[in-house]
Amino acid sequence: MAIRRVIEVGDEVLRKKAKEVEKVDDKIRELLDDMVETMHKFNGVGLAAPQVGILKRIIVIDLYDDKGPIKLVNPVIIKEKGEQEVEEGCLSFPNQYAKIIRPMEVKVKALNENGEEIKISAKGLLAQALAHEIDHLDGILFIDKIIPGTLEFIEQNQ
Ligand code: NI
Repeated sequence: MAIRRVIEVGDEVLRKKAKEVEKVDDKIRELLDDMVETMHKFNGVGLAAPQVGILKRIIVIDLYDDKGPIKLVNPVIIKEKGEQEVEEGCLSFPNQYAKIIRPMEVKVKALNENGEEIKISAKGLLAQALAHEIDHLDGILFIDKIIPGTLEFIEQNQ
């Protein structure tokens, strides 16, 4: 496993549409593991492949609960319900946070790391994280959706 460089705001790769993965093979599994390691290193709750410079439809999420890291290939939101106003940040936007409206519940279809089709029903923070990371795959960033006037710059004490 290896830590990858996280691409930050200003790089055009974050605006590109990622391509579907045709086959979940060892190379994809290695990327998934690297992405989990990178997300953990920077204390993130999610990371999308374009953020490490790879335009493939791959995301990882970890809410640091008993579900452990979630690794998804070709995720698609097939249903969403309700709204929640949340505080949000992104590893590609260090120290920036804003309020944003996300769905309260989502149902996502994806492939797992073995290439098997799975469905995830999520609420609250997990629904927020899934929506955020899946947006990255279409070049959509959280700053596109912020509630005006809510962007804040907060230095984290490391
Ligand atoms: Ni992000």
